[in-house]
Amino acid sequence: MDTSTETTPTTERQLAPGLRWGIKASFVDYVRRMPDGKGSVGDGAVPVGTGDLFYSYDPAASSTGGDGHQVWAFRGDVRFSGHYGMLFVRIAHPRLEVDGSRAVLTIEDPEARQDAPRVPLVTARLQELPTEDGTIAWGADQVALTAEGVALFNDVYAEGEPFEPLVVQLPA
Ligand code: HEM
Repeated sequence: MDTSTETTPTTERQLAPGLRWGIKASFVDYVRRMPDGKGSVGDGAVPVGTGDLFYSYDPAASSTGGDGHQVWAFRGDVRFSGHYGMLFVRIAHPRLEVDGSRAVLTIEDPEARQDAPRVPLVTARLQELPTEDGTIAWGADQVALTAEGVALFNDVYAEGEPFEPLVVQLPA
């Protein structure tokens, strides 16, 4: 994967379909403070703004069910490491499983094991955002860590810990 923490943040990418997310600012700052803290971003994700990640929309893995249940899939592999290898957090290929105004964000197996089930990471409340160009945008607040996500952060955060809000842009 592209291990480019140096990748130039792009503003154009924010207008493309995708998911923009700061994950959890205090966690990203914590890794940044470590002498050996590293972030790597690739496989469809790029850094944007001052600390957000942009995961690109993946139409092939997205789906719409008849009952309003939708899956919005995104590409990108983001990894944080530090503490001389003891800390490793991978947040890759997120999907929002949407049911009305509720969404669950799942990620690929954090250890990248083949055929391992996806892991629910956060739950959120969705709200459609107005756009001027016919694209469809959603904001998600009340973003909260799931019970399954607790172990990924070494049990430091409890279930329900607030994470950053999400913004999703879908094709028109
Ligand atoms: C060598 C072992 C570790 C040491 C000495 C250590 C030390 C610390 C310290 C001192 C803090 C609080 C200080 C600060 O905010 O800067 C902290 C916070 C935290 N640590 Fe570690 N840690 C270790 C391993 C890990 C691992 C393996 C993880 C897994 C992800 C982890 C995740 C976290 C998280 C999520 C926070 C809270 C960050 C925040 O939101 O403020 N730590 N750790």
